[in-house]
Amino acid sequence: MKPIDRARVAGLMERERATFRQRHPRSGQLFEQAKRSLLFGVPMNWMTRWPGDHPVFVDCAEGARFQDVDGNEFIDFCLGDTGGMAGHAPKAAVDAIARQAARGITLMLPTEDAAWVGDELARRFGLPYWQFTLSATDANRSVIRWAREITGRPRIVVHNGCYHGTVDESVAMLENGRTVARSGNIGKPVPLDQTTRVVEINDPESLEAALAHEDVAACLFEPALTNIGIVLPDPGYHEAARKLCDRYGTLLIIDETHTISAGPGGCTRAWGLEPDFLTIGKTLGAGVASGAYGLTERVREKVYARTDSRNTDVGGIGGTLAGNALSLAAMRATLGEVMTDAAFVRMIALGERFEQGVHGVIESSGLPWHAVRLGCRVEYLFRPDRARNGAEAAAGQDDAIDAFIHLYLLNRGILMTPFHNMALMSPATTAADVDRHTQLFSEMAAELSA
Ligand SMILES: Cc1ncc(COP(=O)(O)O)c(C=O)c1O
Repeated sequence: MKPIDRARVAGLMERERATFRQRHPRSGQLFEQAKRSLLFGVPMNWMTRWPGDHPVFVDCAEGARFQDVDGNEFIDFCLGDTGGMAGHAPKAAVDAIARQAARGITLMLPTEDAAWVGDELARRFGLPYWQFTLSATDANRSVIRWAREITGRPRIVVHNGCYHGTVDESVAMLENGRTVARSGNIGKPVPLDQTTRVVEINDPESLEAALAHEDVAACLFEPALTNIGIVLPDPGYHEAARKLCDRYGTLLIIDETHTISAGPGGCTRAWGLEPDFLTIGKTLGAGVASGAYGLTERVREKVYARTDSRNTDVGGIGGTLAGNALSLAAMRATLGEVMTDAAFVRMIALGERFEQGVHGVIESSGLPWHAVRLGCRVEYLFRPDRARNGAEAAAGQDDAIDAFIHLYLLNRGILMTPFHNMALMSPATTAADVDRHTQLFSEMAAELSA
């Protein structure tokens, strides 16, 4: 096909911006008001990264849909970038949250729900011991500290193109084969090559070179990259990584925060991975701040051996509100009644339908793109074939097209995950929701390739 006409994209974008302004007067007013007291006019700085003149202000959300303050309705495939993957306000979780809120929110003491959630996480992921945090970031921070403490080593290894939250050591990237601070890294405490080695996923030779120094406490890996498009592992990559960790005395942390999309036990269960630590957050409590980390029997022994029980409150791990009664009640209801094994079967089938729809449009329009899926998470990327690593995925980003697609869909009632083109299916998403996206994606592709 002929290349996409960039001047045409710019013109289409102007048209979409004008539509956005016309559809969102109240959001525009609220944004102006918020600028008086909020940095950048938003509660979190990345909320300015939506296309359009300002973010859309939400009125209410239920299931896979939300309504904005101007009365526009949306099908939500962003789902709070996985925080809302259980669907918005799922009744079973909302009821449990309301019940617990009325009975006490946080006490510095455990409630009955804690052991139930620990057992359920052990059933799903196969790791026997668990602790709770308020976020995936904090779960990652905690296990990195444990890994350092156990191994007596300073460094960690991450994949190029990874995102593991605001964990200092992980906000790094590869530049000409060197580990440097990721672009936009705010206030790094030390140069990143002092704490971290970055390697490409699917490159066991580079991983071995990074571990062979025998100074790496842990590898912190997503089973598949999900924050730079989806990059799937090559067959055998995880087995190789596990063996290399064992050979060089490094612990393996698997972050399932996004890859839980592969099934009820994430990729760890679906692919038979054998991590030393597993971390997760976001969706566990249907949006109530919750995170968790699991560990093996072997690691537990080392943790116990290295624990200074008189100083556990000041050891650098934990948080006053971590493991609070409300988030445990939310997790119990979400895991037990919403994100069930049966729900995943339906969600993954919808993911397949979404992928097939997008794939069909790409084939018939001849656009040089592709779709890739991990369970109920689907992504389209602006290159003809799958990226094999972070650098290839980054080269497949296209800021202008990305912004155009997001705004085009937003103006027609569909929200995609920002920063790349990701869609997530919740237990409340329907086949009609998916087909609506396919139809609009097809109309958008026709305009782009006209
Ligand atoms: C794989 C992964 N781990 C951890 C995090 C951090 O999650 P949170 O910001 O909720 O702490 C993210 C956030 O996008 C993530 O994608």
